[in-house]
Amino acid sequence: MSTSGGKSDQGKGERGFLRGLQSYGDRDFSVYMRRAFAKSMGYSGDELARPVVGIAFTYSRFNPCHRHFPELLDAVKRGVAAAGGLALEFPTVSLHESTLAPNSMKFRNLMAMDTEEMIRAQPMDAVVLMGGCDKTVPAQLMGAASAGKPAIQLIGGPQMTSRFRDDRVGACTDCRKFWTQYRSGELGKAEIEAVEGRLVTTAGTCAVMGTASTMAAIAEALGMTLPGTAAIPAVHADRLRAAEATGARAVALARSDLTPDRIITAGAIENAARVLLALGGSTNGVIHLAAIAGRLGLKLDLVRLNELSDTTPVLAAVKPVGDQFYMEDFFAAGGIGAVLRELKELLHLDCITVAGQTLGERLAADTGLYVDRRVIKSAAEPLEPQGGLVALFGSLAPDGAILKRSAATPELFEKTGRAVVFSSLEDLAARIDDPALDVTADDFIVLQNAGPRSSAAMPEAGFLPIPKKLLAAGVNDMVRISDARMSGTAYGTIVLHVAPEAALGGPLALVRSGDRIRLSVGERRLDLLVEEAEWNRRRGGIRPGASDPMTRGYDKLFRESVMQAPDGCDFDFLLGGVHSQ
Ligand code: FES
Repeated sequence: MSTSGGKSDQGKGERGFLRGLQSYGDRDFSVYMRRAFAKSMGYSGDELARPVVGIAFTYSRFNPCHRHFPELLDAVKRGVAAAGGLALEFPTVSLHESTLAPNSMKFRNLMAMDTEEMIRAQPMDAVVLMGGCDKTVPAQLMGAASAGKPAIQLIGGPQMTSRFRDDRVGACTDCRKFWTQYRSGELGKAEIEAVEGRLVTTAGTCAVMGTASTMAAIAEALGMTLPGTAAIPAVHADRLRAAEATGARAVALARSDLTPDRIITAGAIENAARVLLALGGSTNGVIHLAAIAGRLGLKLDLVRLNELSDTTPVLAAVKPVGDQFYMEDFFAAGGIGAVLRELKELLHLDCITVAGQTLGERLAADTGLYVDRRVIKSAAEPLEPQGGLVALFGSLAPDGAILKRSAATPELFEKTGRAVVFSSLEDLAARIDDPALDVTADDFIVLQNAGPRSSAAMPEAGFLPIPKKLLAAGVNDMVRISDARMSGTAYGTIVLHVAPEAALGGPLALVRSGDRIRLSVGERRLDLLVEEAEWNRRRGGIRPGASDPMTRGYDKLFRESVMQAPDGCDFDFLLGGVHSQ
């Protein structure tokens, strides 16, 4: 047997169903055995001689965002068969945001490892990656990048919106809006229960420019999906046609050597970062893009991200940017293609895409297409002249932190405030609504020990709740700082991904209630204003990683190997090292 990451000697150089034969010491016996079991599924010799397209099928009843995947799978298989291939779907880990504990991010790397190893170990010439919900798209791209076989991604697509009374609603920016209204007493229990039944009413991923839609856009900008397919709604007939076309294209890829490392280049990573910024996309996109880059020995540098941000306009008025439009509007307005065309002067147009054409060739062919300028602005008249995300550095975040300025309050961008510190999520839950809590709207709420190496494993808890008493007084935003992540659907003046994290003994662990913190978005700074002697005194009392040791299984692997946010929170042993076929 081959070991993980290695190859069987037998079947080396073979293609199709005879790839990676088992090592019995008798090649013909290996072929005979493999074909015997394949024939038990009813395949003919003719079918088994075709190019094999594996389909990473992530349907799961624990994943509502993928509930339409069986129908999409049928369409992919139609496309593969029509193009002369043999389609073989296989299950992998599937991740949904609301059904995984402690959070889905903890299992992204597990899914990436599963995807990589199954692509490598099973006899397929190319793979279709069916992804949708937040972590599934990056996990599949990470795994496929490392597996080194031709791959194409089929995005599941966003949900359609629904109605609550006079409001058009969709997961999940509205989830937070209504919950905030409930917390402040504006909505009663019956009303919030009614909202609960209206937020998610179709198959697909969240209806706004959250992490799933951001990662779909990144996949298309990287060149890993067919052009124009990232934003098609899940229940739209075009989604099925995209699935069929993806299957057909996978057969062509199976006959080629167009592997992900030729597509996901340094230029493609920058193109994807530009699109992320122009969309005012999810902060999680920065982590995932860094992880994808890392698989190919590339780096998404945060200083470079700021340079890109300074020169990339925000073009998409899709929630949580603006308060009117959803992904179905974005698709109808022109989708990712319309954004790419506006950014054309800023992109690396020589990047090859999975369609076999360069990005420049794709955009040259896109002429005279309709664009709804209410939703997708022109570069000449953007929503904002600069990108939606900025990296901050300073004594509180030596390795960087992220602020989504496009979803934040500009009046809070240059501010020094008093820290109100919570040492853990449990501490936050216990005290944030305490009427006796010493807090004002001018304070900075700080959460420690919610980074990747904490026991919480970097949850989307960075959207720290505003204390109830301040909400009741009409406060709707304040500066909040943590080493956690934030849902792509959230908004507010929220500093995330502080690195190094508190659990590793980073400066965030040194903050005490009453300290002064200075935020300057203009200077890209985040500083803890504490005297050096006091800083050193506190540093002496910090014992990184001393609490809650993980002792076994995936917990242990995660705790020992996960890297910090600027490195994409991938496992350190998964960097680089693409498998060659
Ligand atoms: Fe799946 Fe939002 S929960 S995309």
